[in-house]
Amino acid sequence: MSILIENIKELIQVETSPKLLVKGSEMAILQTIKNAYLFIEDGLISSFGTMHDLNSSNALFATDDTTVIDATGKMVFPSFVDSHTHLVYPASREIEYIDKIKGLSYEEIAKRGGGILNSALLMQEATEDELVDAAMQRLNEIISYGTGTVEIKSGYGLTVESELKMLRVIKRLKKISPLLIKSTFLGAHSIPLEYRRNPSKYVDIVINEMLPRVADDNLADFIDVFCDTGFFTVEDTERILQAGLKYNIRGKIHANELDYSGGIQAGVKHNALSVDHLEFTADAEINALLHSQTMPTVLPGAAFFLGMKYAPVRKMINAGLPLALASDFNPGSAPSGNMQLILSMASILYKMLPQEAINATTINSAYAMGVSNIVGSIATGKKANIFITIPIPTYEYMPYYFGTNKVETVILNGKIVK
Ligand code: NIG
Ligand code: FE
Repeated sequence: MSILIENIKELIQVETSPKLLVKGSEMAILQTIKNAYLFIEDGLISSFGTMHDLNSSNALFATDDTTVIDATGKMVFPSFVDSHTHLVYPASREIEYIDKIKGLSYEEIAKRGGGILNSALLMQEATEDELVDAAMQRLNEIISYGTGTVEIKSGYGLTVESELKMLRVIKRLKKISPLLIKSTFLGAHSIPLEYRRNPSKYVDIVINEMLPRVADDNLADFIDVFCDTGFFTVEDTERILQAGLKYNIRGKIHANELDYSGGIQAGVKHNALSVDHLEFTADAEINALLHSQTMPTVLPGAAFFLGMKYAPVRKMINAGLPLALASDFNPGSAPSGNMQLILSMASILYKMLPQEAINATTINSAYAMGVSNIVGSIATGKKANIFITIPIPTYEYMPYYFGTNKVETVILNGKIVK
């Protein structure tokens, strides 16, 4: 099985010497090839170059079972990598969204038992089959918008059985969806009402009852904690990250969304793979992140939807940091997994150049979920997860022409899926 895409107007994000991430001023560099071809064989990117290169070695590629796609006027991108979602959930929450419109804050809704706890209540009743079906629909939707790799968290369970149920659902999704999926155990997403007086007791349950079973059944690639005001403290976070490392499970944590929570520093201290949200980031947080192995990840959809202040992305990149962007797709604070919209928000709200936004949603978000050696760019030997756009004038048009789907054809694992 092979696919030859020819006459590509511009092949985006090509790498001849692949990098695991890009940072600082490198983020504004995007390598492309105009009038290009891309050859896919056995699910992998086998070669690429200019049409001139192809024409001088045509016999090498075309066999009888090669599917040839003419991409005249169209561009080819590596699929988006969405490194932070909560897309397994039992039901939408548009009613509490009305409360938000009327002026209640995210924290106020959480305090009175709404928000995450509302989803947790419904999660108890939901069957695995129902959750799989609903999540598959969401996965198919994000595929149609160009996502090829996605991280999915638990965290709407908040009891041993319910957390394990969510993680088993994600394990099933890994098997049946063509997306590359990684799973994250987020037992510490919110403190259940019955532990509000004694949160560390709930942290004990996460560490001593949930985590060993998660690890035994190989249910999580990463571990997460919501380290913020009204949720989990730095001390709780550090305990959980340390416990995860005992099982060789690295952290990917929610930090500094609601305040200067100390979460960024806690994540860096325990070598988290990423710290996510980061609305409250100042010099101390930037300094902690410099020279670390931790990818700062910003979630524009949540900040936009909740009307929060925006993370100081320009300052972070100017300081030399790498930056990843993800959707945070969830029913409470970001009910969209459309990564094209994230590209537009990055440019419009965060003043990121299109090149920076594309790097942040491909190679850097791939690093943030530990897969930048296999996806996130067009490089020989990487997984053939790519999309072909509708005819577009320039790649800058992708963030500019916001709100419509510019993805026409999707190829995942070397197979056409849209
Ligand atoms: O990333 N910040 C914490 N958790 C999610 C929200 C989940 C929810 O409200 O259901 C987030 O925004
Ligand atoms: Fe989140």
